[in-house]
Amino acid sequence: MQNSARINAKITSVGHYVPDFVIDNKFFEGILDTSDEWITERTGIKERRWLTADKPTSFMAEKAIKQVLENRGIGPEDIDMIIVGTVTPDMIYPSTACLLQEKIGAKNIWGFDILAACSGFIFALINGVQFIQSGNFKKVLVVGADKMSAILNIQDRNSAILFGDAAGAVLLEPEEDKNEGILDWIMNIDGSGAKNLFQLGGGSLHPASHQTVDDRMHFVYQEGRTVFKDAVKGMADVSYDILEENNLKGKDVAWLVPHQANHRIITATAERMGLSMDKVMVNINKYGNTTAGTIPTCISEYWQAGKVNKGDYLVLSSFGAGYTWGSVLLKWSY
Ligand code: UT7
Repeated sequence: MQNSARINAKITSVGHYVPDFVIDNKFFEGILDTSDEWITERTGIKERRWLTADKPTSFMAEKAIKQVLENRGIGPEDIDMIIVGTVTPDMIYPSTACLLQEKIGAKNIWGFDILAACSGFIFALINGVQFIQSGNFKKVLVVGADKMSAILNIQDRNSAILFGDAAGAVLLEPEEDKNEGILDWIMNIDGSGAKNLFQLGGGSLHPASHQTVDDRMHFVYQEGRTVFKDAVKGMADVSYDILEENNLKGKDVAWLVPHQANHRIITATAERMGLSMDKVMVNINKYGNTTAGTIPTCISEYWQAGKVNKGDYLVLSSFGAGYTWGSVLLKWSY
């Protein structure tokens, strides 16, 4: 949807946090019928980070937010709103946004969580953009954070090896120049994909019980091969379409920032866009799939390394449970 509002939104700061505790592929060789070689070849993952059991998702999100505030030179009192994309909130309710408001000491603000799995960050981002464009909100924090280690079935080699924990955050602020900041987006949902990637237990359909625990219903379940095929098509299509709609070619793009689910999905998306891999942000090798954390973590790391520059076109793309998928086109502003 091309932006017709009077005010644009732009990212003015970034931050991220990954836990210290590294789990390499060898760890899984000791507990599952798998190998470092299989995991590396089929996914691109070499290691991931897991947060300690006593700490929740908001612990990582708070650290990412603090970096955002520090980088922008502002305090929590300047924030108007917090939007959090996560599938691993600290608890079912209250929202992680509420818990973060209290943790960081922000006052008189609004906020909420968004449940869009691996697309959680870009869905939250585009929500934040709407509030900036309304003219009523000047500084919106957008967070993508997940502690996937909390919902992993460690006995399932199909999924246990894939996921890690991380949080990333950005600050959105108004921009008067229509050619700067978030320029365009395409967002989709399709519930026919729900059967391929889910966490069944704990909701109103299957409330927590001894049975749901015995049946391992509180963990991630994924039909990997089906999701793989759908993700390649969904993410590549939407990333190509957003270029087409804006009369851009792969050569115009400084960075593709893809959701980090599988290196082969990332490569297929880059190929479809006509991009070489040196224009693609990748950290799946270090962190695995951190769900809503992948995209903001990538942007923050690359920005900290001095690789993202004012005027760069970035395309952010994701595909995840729901299905949820989409792409964002933006021009980096600082
Ligand atoms: O982030 C949200 C969206 N999620 C995604 O986009 C993930 C999409 N899916 C994937 O990334 C891939 O499908 C996986 C990495 C999950 C699996 O890779 P694959 O190449 O699609 O493997 P597969 O599921 O087709 O399985 C091939 C074989 C099977 O054995 P058989 O039936 O051929 O004997 C699996 O049992 O590989 C086996 N396998 C493993 N072998 C060693 C599955 N997991 C493992 C493992 N180690 N960890």
